[in-house]
Amino acid sequence: MPKNILITGGTGFIGGHLSQHLVDSGYHVTILTRSDLSERANSDQIKFASSLDSLANIDWYGVINLAGEPLDKSRWSDEQKAQIIDSRVSMTLRLNTWIRDLPKPLEVYISGSAIGWYGHWQDEFLDEASTYHAGFSHQLCEAWESAANELADLETRICTVRIGIVLGADGGPLPAMLLPAKLGLGGPMGSGDQWWSWVHIVDAVRCFEMLLDNSLARGVFNLTAPAPVPQGQFARILGKQLNRPAVLPLPGFMAKLMLGEFAEEVLLNGQRVLPKNLTAAGFTFNYPELADALRDLA
Ligand SMILES: NC(=O)c1ccc[n+]([C@@H]2O[C@H](COP(=O)([O-])OP(=O)(O)OC[C@H]3O[C@@H](n4cnc5c(N)ncnc54)[C@H](OP(=O)(O)O)[C@@H]3O)[C@@H](O)[C@H]2O)c1
Repeated sequence: MPKNILITGGTGFIGGHLSQHLVDSGYHVTILTRSDLSERANSDQIKFASSLDSLANIDWYGVINLAGEPLDKSRWSDEQKAQIIDSRVSMTLRLNTWIRDLPKPLEVYISGSAIGWYGHWQDEFLDEASTYHAGFSHQLCEAWESAANELADLETRICTVRIGIVLGADGGPLPAMLLPAKLGLGGPMGSGDQWWSWVHIVDAVRCFEMLLDNSLARGVFNLTAPAPVPQGQFARILGKQLNRPAVLPLPGFMAKLMLGEFAEEVLLNGQRVLPKNLTAAGFTFNYPELADALRDLA
């Protein structure tokens, strides 16, 4: 009997790759979406739904919750920041109510989060036991994680995935970096010393599958490759892959002028995160090194 998985955010970059990967592995996937269902073609293995109400009578194995307003959709006003948080928390609370009412407990609930939970750090290594520095990214991720953990009293396994910078050819930050890099304009952003903890999209979806399948997996998991790099080094490795020197830097003040607080939170600051719990669970990366990931994608 194929296992049924419900995915929110399944129309997005990570969710789209994940849905296809899970179908290829024999799961049946249902994607909860706000989009027009008449534009979505159901197949035997992937179905689309616009409301949780119609989904109660299915025998669910797991739920993966990734939906949320994109961080780079527009400049961060107070209103936009509230929407970024609320889009994730309100979806999670709706899911919680639905999951509690299911006739049979879920095996596993995988909740999205991000390495922004740790806030801004310098060169310190961070793992799942590390603490955080306060700021908007932490506030967002903490609100999202806390909402999911309201189900902690159920027998369902809860896995919280602190997602790093996901590299793919068709989503995440890489496509926007390729054009300037091809023109030789992809130099360091700000100091270039800020750590970028990245992961290849292939390893990202493999990680979600492992968390579905591994009956011992529960708790927090950093989803980052084991070899994070400073952003300036990222730019150099990308330039080398493209045979273009990464020379022209983007000064920090310019990035802030163009992108506002988003630049400060996401591009000019970072954290050096290690996937300690994934490694302890036996997960191995197809792309542990950035040069190999970029050779595949760029
Ligand atoms: N990509 C990364 O590098 C990265 C890193 C760390 C964390 N994350 C987090 O992981 C999740 C998935 O990332 P992604 O890159 O796949 O994101 P994405 O491509 O932007 O997709 C997000 C999905 O969320 C839904 N959505 C968008 N705005 C929404 C809103 N206002 N209310 C409710 N749902 C909304 C959309 O689904 P529908 O339009 O079908 O409803 C969309 O498909 C996101 O929450 C993101 O913050 C991503």
